[in-house]
Amino acid sequence: MADKQACWGLLSTARINERLIPAIRASGRSELLAVASRSDERAQAYAKQWDIPHAYGTYEQMLDDPAIDVIYLSLPNHLHAEWAIKCAEAGKHVLCEKPIAITTEEVDRMAQAAEKNGVIIQEAAMMRFHPQTRYLRELVAKRIIGDVRLIRGVFTFILDNQGDIRLNPSMGGGSLWDLGSYCVSFARTVLQAEPVEVSAYQISGDSGVDLSFSAQMHFPTGTLVHFFSSFQSFAHIEADFLGTEGRIYADIPWVNHIGASASVRVTRSGDVEGTSTFSDSVEGHTTDTKRYENINAYQCEVDSIVESVLNGAEPVISLADSWNNIVTIVALHESARTGKPVRPSTRNDEFTQRRR
Ligand SMILES: NC(=O)c1ccc[n+]([C@@H]2O[C@H](COP(=O)([O-])OP(=O)(O)OC[C@H]3O[C@@H](n4cnc5c(N)ncnc54)[C@H](OP(=O)(O)O)[C@@H]3O)[C@@H](O)[C@H]2O)c1
Repeated sequence: MADKQACWGLLSTARINERLIPAIRASGRSELLAVASRSDERAQAYAKQWDIPHAYGTYEQMLDDPAIDVIYLSLPNHLHAEWAIKCAEAGKHVLCEKPIAITTEEVDRMAQAAEKNGVIIQEAAMMRFHPQTRYLRELVAKRIIGDVRLIRGVFTFILDNQGDIRLNPSMGGGSLWDLGSYCVSFARTVLQAEPVEVSAYQISGDSGVDLSFSAQMHFPTGTLVHFFSSFQSFAHIEADFLGTEGRIYADIPWVNHIGASASVRVTRSGDVEGTSTFSDSVEGHTTDTKRYENINAYQCEVDSIVESVLNGAEPVISLADSWNNIVTIVALHESARTGKPVRPSTRNDEFTQRRR
């Protein structure tokens, strides 16, 4: 199968496609064959602009094209499940944008459709495919900073487009679905654990979606995770970890910048005697920095699903893993609504154990 190509179709003309198109073209084992839009005119114009051979004026027409193997699904959040299931029923693999769905029932139906039709449906949470995320998970697993007590994450930007899908509650809008979903996935994967209890507070906009969201998650590892997502704050991205024997700082934890260099800085206590007061605890520390230059997380994501489609490699993000992400996000929303802590009913089945 070495020469086999994965033939791709883009389901919608979404802005995010611009990150995927160069990655599909650079993958070496992919061909971008088609784009579909609700409007024939838009599909034709988009195909011309991006030099894509086929344009379809309905999504269904592209699903009927037997030449397409993989669909990149970049619809608004509330349409992910419906169209991923239609793609699966048409025998297509799906790279589905995050969040994979907005209810766990939807993820269950997606899993049934994938299994029944022998295809992969995988969530496009790009940072999960980047080597930096694997490295952070290894640092935690090897207890490089001892027991991790706290992880803090921030993912924010100013959203000033009033017509944006992110501000529409019926489309799965809000900063938690859009940005916080990365923070939840990140914490779960680096800790290799599911949260036992969550609590949250949100600032709502006129439409009712959360414009800013502050979340806490308590993990069975004894780790507290706090993250802040917002459409109302200066663009900022970072995560840090505080452990019993050191700390880790990641400057671009969600690695969503193409061509940006990301770094992970690990500071550990040396063999210092008497660290019982804050004044002598800064002595003898060591700091190591690992840099990632020009690694495109979207490229890693495309290469990974192509390997699954062509050679049967296990998907990096299983649907069971995504299910636990969604149940956690739903619990966070419930906590923000009720003002009470919520215990998410995550499933610890064998799929979750295989999470990478
Ligand atoms: N991984 C990442 O880095 C990343 C970044 C940004 C966004 N995303 C995700 O990608 C998805 C798309 O986000 P985006 O900002 O790129 O979206 P967008 O530019 O608003 O595009 C969404 C597309 O969906 C189609 N669509 C179908 N029904 C629609 C409806 N009722 N209203 C609006 N559009 C509709 C439209 O395409 P046609 O008119 O051509 O059919 C539209 O171009 C979301 O799930 C988002 O969470 C991921």
